[in-house]
Amino acid sequence: MNVHVDALARQHQLDEATSTFAHDVIEGLSRPQKQLSPKYFYDAAGSALFEQITLLPEYYPTRTELGILRDRGAAIAARIPNDAAIIEFGAGATTKVRALLQACHTHAYVPVDISGDFLHAQAAELRRDLPGLAVYPVTADFTAPFELPDAVAAMPKVGFFPGSTLGNFEPHEACAFLRSARQILGAGSELLIGIDLEKDDRVLAAAYNDSAGVTARFNLNILVRINRELGGDFDLSAFKHRAIFNRELHRIEMHLISRTSQTVRILGHNFAFRTGETIHTENSYKYSLARFGALALGSGWTPLQCWTDAEGMFSVHVLKASD
Ligand code: AVI
Repeated sequence: MNVHVDALARQHQLDEATSTFAHDVIEGLSRPQKQLSPKYFYDAAGSALFEQITLLPEYYPTRTELGILRDRGAAIAARIPNDAAIIEFGAGATTKVRALLQACHTHAYVPVDISGDFLHAQAAELRRDLPGLAVYPVTADFTAPFELPDAVAAMPKVGFFPGSTLGNFEPHEACAFLRSARQILGAGSELLIGIDLEKDDRVLAAAYNDSAGVTARFNLNILVRINRELGGDFDLSAFKHRAIFNRELHRIEMHLISRTSQTVRILGHNFAFRTGETIHTENSYKYSLARFGALALGSGWTPLQCWTDAEGMFSVHVLKASD
């Protein structure tokens, strides 16, 4: 944290997490291309909006991945060692892991997430519904090293990273995450990972510019959060949401576009916007099967098998830790 933001944070009596948020916002909005990190989408309101996105007709990834996990459950289970512990990186809705647990005969599940309350509520629900399953929640930032519970030490380990969340990482971050997962899961482990595939621009653009405007509310919610937590004075009606597919960089980019020339004040800083100037809030990288396979190989994992839906929209891969 730089000295100036640090002093402001003390003056405004911000806790540590909010100070980090303040630092990242001020640093990001000071860049020539203004930007905010997508990790700040997920406060309670943002997480609820994301759950709504997953149900939208235009947002195909969630239902397509779930379809693959259900339709190919037996083949996926055949690739996973019996009695493996499933370690899920991030814990959202449990629908996907339930499909996986149903297909493979596993008795231990380790969900890992930074939000402890949410994690423990999900764990309690799973224990109630699946009495034969031992659930060992770990509260941790899954992008950094963490310890697995002793109870699963002797079991074969299978990481689970669905939802194409890897797509929200920059390519070097995706590589670092895969290497870290390899380190955490250890020799002989496997990783089951969902990856969204590059496709027609119109299908991609529609998935991130839905007609009901839920993705727009999700994107704008980051400004709501800055106003609430950092005392910012963003006028929400002065920004609009736009997602575009950047084919050269293989990614959907989400932006908030200033509708007018305006100045926004946050924690004593002024940020000037020209009409049409954007805040870049998220990248969602889309892979080809070959490009993802190369990324995995270069990050400590050997691709074993992958499955797609009939239209080739989404893919699920089983990787094995390279020796
Ligand atoms: C969480 N993540 C994989 C979503 C995606 O598709 O990149 C986040 C999202 N952003 C807008 N819509 C969904």
